[in-house]
Formats: sequence, structure tokens, C-alpha cells
Amino acid sequence: MSALKDVDDLNAAEARDEHARLAREIATHDKHYYQNDAPKISDAAYDRLRQRLEAIESRYPELVDLLSPTQRVGSAPSGKFGEIKHAVPMLSLGNAFNDEDVADFIARIRRFLGLGDDEPVVITAEPKIDGLSASLRYEKGRLVSGATRGDGASGEDVTRNLLTLDDIPENLPGSSWPDVLEVRGEVYMSHEDFALLNSRQVEAGKPEYKNPRNAAAGSLRQIDPAVTARRPLRFFAYAWGEVSAPLATTQYDAVERFKALGFPTNPLMQRCQTLDDVLAVYRDIEAKRAALGYDIDGVVYKADRLDWQERLGFVARAPRWAIAHKFPAEQATTLLEGIDIQVGRTGSLTPVARLKPVTVGGVVVSNATLHNEDEIARKDVRVGDTVVVQRAGDVIPQIVRVTDPDRPGRAEPFQFPTRCPVCDSQAVREHDEKSGKLDAVRRCTGGLICAAQLIERLKHFVSRKAFDIEGMGTKQIEAFHTEGLVRQPADIFTLRRRNDADEIIPPIQEREGWGETSAANLFNAIDERRAIALARVINALGIRHVGENTAALLARTYTSWTAFKSASETLSDETVRAEMLDIDGLGPAAVEALEQYFSEPHNRDMLDALASELDIQNAETVASDSPVAGKTVVFTGTLERMTRDEAKAKAQSLGAKVAGSVSKKTDYLVAGPGAGSKAKKAADLGVETLSEDDWFKLIGEG
Ligand code: IVH
Repeated sequence: MSALKDVDDLNAAEARDEHARLAREIATHDKHYYQNDAPKISDAAYDRLRQRLEAIESRYPELVDLLSPTQRVGSAPSGKFGEIKHAVPMLSLGNAFNDEDVADFIARIRRFLGLGDDEPVVITAEPKIDGLSASLRYEKGRLVSGATRGDGASGEDVTRNLLTLDDIPENLPGSSWPDVLEVRGEVYMSHEDFALLNSRQVEAGKPEYKNPRNAAAGSLRQIDPAVTARRPLRFFAYAWGEVSAPLATTQYDAVERFKALGFPTNPLMQRCQTLDDVLAVYRDIEAKRAALGYDIDGVVYKADRLDWQERLGFVARAPRWAIAHKFPAEQATTLLEGIDIQVGRTGSLTPVARLKPVTVGGVVVSNATLHNEDEIARKDVRVGDTVVVQRAGDVIPQIVRVTDPDRPGRAEPFQFPTRCPVCDSQAVREHDEKSGKLDAVRRCTGGLICAAQLIERLKHFVSRKAFDIEGMGTKQIEAFHTEGLVRQPADIFTLRRRNDADEIIPPIQEREGWGETSAANLFNAIDERRAIALARVINALGIRHVGENTAALLARTYTSWTAFKSASETLSDETVRAEMLDIDGLGPAAVEALEQYFSEPHNRDMLDALASELDIQNAETVASDSPVAGKTVVFTGTLERMTRDEAKAKAQSLGAKVAGSVSKKTDYLVAGPGAGSKAKKAADLGVETLSEDDWFKLIGEG
């Protein structure tokens, strides 16, 4: 966030762009949080996004529209359950992040109500429970429906699930209740029950829940209420929706009535007379936090007098009479015992801090992310240092800083490896071709020989634009890889042989999901692809910067596997390198990547094994006598006799260069119906425009 401009410095256009971007980003996070029960960012990071959006809206109020997140609460119901429209909307709360924000909150109430300085503003303070809110509708003392918050206007009908909670009465005791009473509060799970549930999940081979809040949400939103019944959910009542008669005259007394009706209410709720009282309760609750046995993420303050609440009303999604004072991200200090490097599925090397285990906000942390090597250098984090670790919400813990950077006898600065710790291939940082900036991420160049990347690479290898083996998709590759049957591309082509020689036990046709016919079909499909075009083989290798187009260019230039391989292996030779760099449409990044790739002996071994199984077909040499050889062609509009891919391949096979946009260098624009700006540009530049039929005539196929 620090790199962002101050909101006051944004001009109207920048504000509009950023507002739109933030609104989209917030909507995505809302969806992860509310519908998938799986947040992707910490609450603190989310709050920062919202704060910035709100700041922009307060400076440019015209940007507030119905789609703005400030006008919505949560996200729309997920569709699994029936929908219940809330008689009174279920709102959200504004946030206070420090004492000053709290003082402002109380000052705002005073100002809004026109209160004199000596008039006390009584405020209730209570923990903000980190669960999910629910609304329970009682008619004549009997529970008739229960709903989640949903988007605030309507939520999911989880009545039967809510009824399984011991904390929620089906019938209210006595008779002193309003005929219509909507009790609202938080459904949550205790730490103890959360741990128990997760251990049961593990035993049953099911995924663990990330935190008590997600466990509560996941448990409440079970289609089968019998499952919810087995989940130890609890409830605190703290608010209400529609009521046919007033509950009390103050917030505090209204909650007392809930208590009398048999609802659990939070014992830490207090009435405060002054700002100092309020802040003292905050610190007290914060101090008790770790021992509470359930998650809270702040303290909620509410104006106690209900007539004042009424007058104060709402702004957008939140009441003026209440605010949530959030706890800061939790931190702890511990020893950095080591730095490990993890290799991701796409080859990225990520440094992970190994920590002496420490409790941060009730969770034992022994790893933290260090993001990348620049981050390590920036924070100058070294093995043996004492570091501050921070855990904010659900994100992976982070290292904030080193506490003792001047300590004598400190280790040397961390040397980030330049070889992959998994496969020992070179690991490189690339320069962005356009900006020239160095990529923050270092990547392993091992590709198919790197165990960390193998599955992703194999999936690419068999994909449609590469080997395109029928019946061999993601699922099969994953299974064959897990079962150890395919460890490198060549293994795909030796499957039949090994299977026939009883080297695969049990044989594929006897494995689950397979039979004689399907196994035979697979082997035949594999055999059909032994004879394969050079361009496909090159593309299949998944070398960085060598995609489909570059593979086609290389194939057409070198025509045979042997020539391509020998050129790629000798790129240190100036002539060979210059020749490759000379290929129109092929950039230096691809040459660099090829050089790295072919300089690795294990890649060469892997390729030899593969090539010995294949019959790699020479690419058609470029017809230099074709009428379009050396010409630059652009295709636009809807082509009717061929697909865009076909058109491109044909043109390339005739020695033409296919470009994506019209320029002075363009020789022909082939325009189908619906051609727009490109046709105009061609006309402006005097570029010859052909119809699809003209094109076929030109290449002698008309
Ligand atoms: S009062 C109109 N009190 O926080 C305001 N909310 O960020 C009604 N929450 O949706 C909310 N503990 O899920 C209130 N003691 C508490 C709360 C609380 C947790 C949740 C609730 C609400 C969210 C707002």
C-alpha cells in the first residue's frame, strides 16, 4: 500500500480507475470469504483495501454506486440453500484501528445528536466474535426460520441446521417475549472443539479446516443438518432485527433480555461512561483474548441508548451508533533457525524461514514466508537472527524485522541458491523483456527433469497443442505419476512395452478405472503419436519463452530434430547464436532459455531417451518460391474457409510472417467480414487488403 499515491493526490480519472479496481478486488475477496469459506488474504489486508476505497469515495462521492462494496454487505447467498429475505437488513460494522478512531467515533455521535460536552455518552463494549452471524426469527415464541447474513438483504435458509445448536432454543421460555422477535448473533466454534473436529477430519481422510471461523461456517452450511448436529457449534446473541415490541430502552438491557430468554450472551460485555473507560475495556479484553477459548478479532462499541441508535441510523452498510475496534496483527519474537528454499509447481524458488516454534496469537508458528531474495536482502534477515513474526488473520506468517541487526558475530548475509535444490538445475532470474526489470522470482530451469515441476510439465507435454494423446489427460498423468509409472516423457512411450513385459504390477488393464479395451486404446493412442511433427515436440518441452509460435519458427528454420538440437546445444558459438537470433519473430529471451535448457546434461539425457522412442518428422522447408514468402500478413475479421490457427499455419508454411497488427511493414491484410480498425489502418497506410478468396487465389489454392 505504501507505494500507492495519497488519496488526496489522486485526480478524478485515477480515482475512478482505482475505485473500480478496488471494488473488483474486494468483491473477489468477499466471494472467497463468504461463499467458499476460504479467505485468500488476511483480515488486516482486506480492511486496508476497504479503507482505501472508502477514502476514495469520501473524496469522490460520485463514485459511489450500487455495485460499490460500501453499498453491499458480504456477498450474495451461495445457492445451496433456500433464500430468506431479512425483514431488517443485516448490516456490517465500520472499523476503528486505534484510539483516535474511537475518540472520533464518540465525537461523531455527539456532533450528530447535538449533545453538550458534559452530556455522557454511554457506550457498551463487548468482544467481536470471529464467527458468522445468523438471524433467528421467533414468532409467538417459536423459532420459525434462521438465516445466515448473506449479502445483508437476504441470506441462506439454515433453519434446520441452526436448530441443532444447543445454544439456540426452539421455543422461548415464559411468555414475555414480543410476538415477532428476530434474535441476531454469532455462530462460532471454540478452539478446543475446532482441534477435535480437525483431528476427526484427518482420521476420516478429509481436509482440515483452516481456522475456527471457517469450520463454523462450513459446519453450519452443511446440506445435511445431521452433519451440523455433530459439529459443536455455539452462539452468542448480541443484536436483533424485526421486533413487534421494544425489547428495552438500552442496548445493555436488550442483551440482558436475551439472557433471560435462554440465549448465551457474552460475559465480557460492559457499559462505559467515558472514552477512557471504553479504551480500558478494550485493553482488558485484549489481555484476556488468548485465554478465552474462542477467536475474537476486536471489540465492538455501541451507543447504549436505543432512542439514540434510532436517531443515529446508518450510513451505507454500517450503523453510525456502532463500530468495531480491531486488534492489531499479532506478533511474537523468535529465533530464525534456518532458511529453506521451496520449489513451486512452476519452478519458482520461495525462501521459507524455519523458526524456533513460537505461539503467535494462540497458534504455534514454526515457518514463515520470506517471499523472495530481494525481500531477504531488504530486511537483511540472516540465519541465527532474532526476528519478529507476524500472523494477521489467515495468511501465512511473515517475518517483520530483525530485532538485533547489530549483534556481534552475526552470520553472513544469506546467499540465495542459484541452483534448484530439488533437481540441481540452474535457477535464474529473468529480465522483463519490455521493462528490463529484474524479476523478483528466481526460477528453476529444470522443467521436465525437476520433480517439483514434473506433473505440470507432463500435463503440458500431453496437451492438445503438444503431443495431444487421446485418453491421456490431467487425471491419467496425475495417477501415472503418483503410481511411479511415468517419471519422464519417454516413460509414456514405454508404457505398453513395460506392461506387456509384466514390469507394471498390477498391469494397467487390471487397475481401477481401466479394462482391456481402455488400456489397449490408450496404448494405441500413444503409438499413433510416435510419428510427430518437430514443432509439436519443441512446444511439448515447455521451455520458458518457447511456446507454440516460437516452436513453429524453430522447426521451420532447423527442419530436423538433429539440426535443432545441435544448434540449441552450441549456442555458445557466436555464429550459431547469431543465426538463431536472426529468426524473425524469435526474441533473445527464447535463445537464452534454450541455451540454459540444453546446457543441462540431465535435460539432454531426457531428450535422448524421448527421441529414441519417437519418429520426429521434419518440418516442411519454407517454400522460398511461394508468392508470399518473406511477406508479412495480418488476418482479421471472421474467416470462413479456415480457422485463424489454420490460416496462420498455412501462411507460415509458405514462408510468410504472420503479425498481429497492421503496420507499415505489413504486406497484406486478409480481412473477413467484421474487420474493424485494422482494415481502416491498412487503408490509411496503403496496405493491400485481400478478401479470404483473394488470399486463396494468391497462394494458388483459389
Ligand atoms: S453488532 C448492526 N456485535 O461483526 C450491527 N457484531 O463486522 C450488528 N460481530 O456481521 C452487528 N461480534 O458478524 C455485533 N458483538 C458483536 C459482534 C458482531 C461479531 C460480527 C457480525 C457482524 C460483523 C460486522
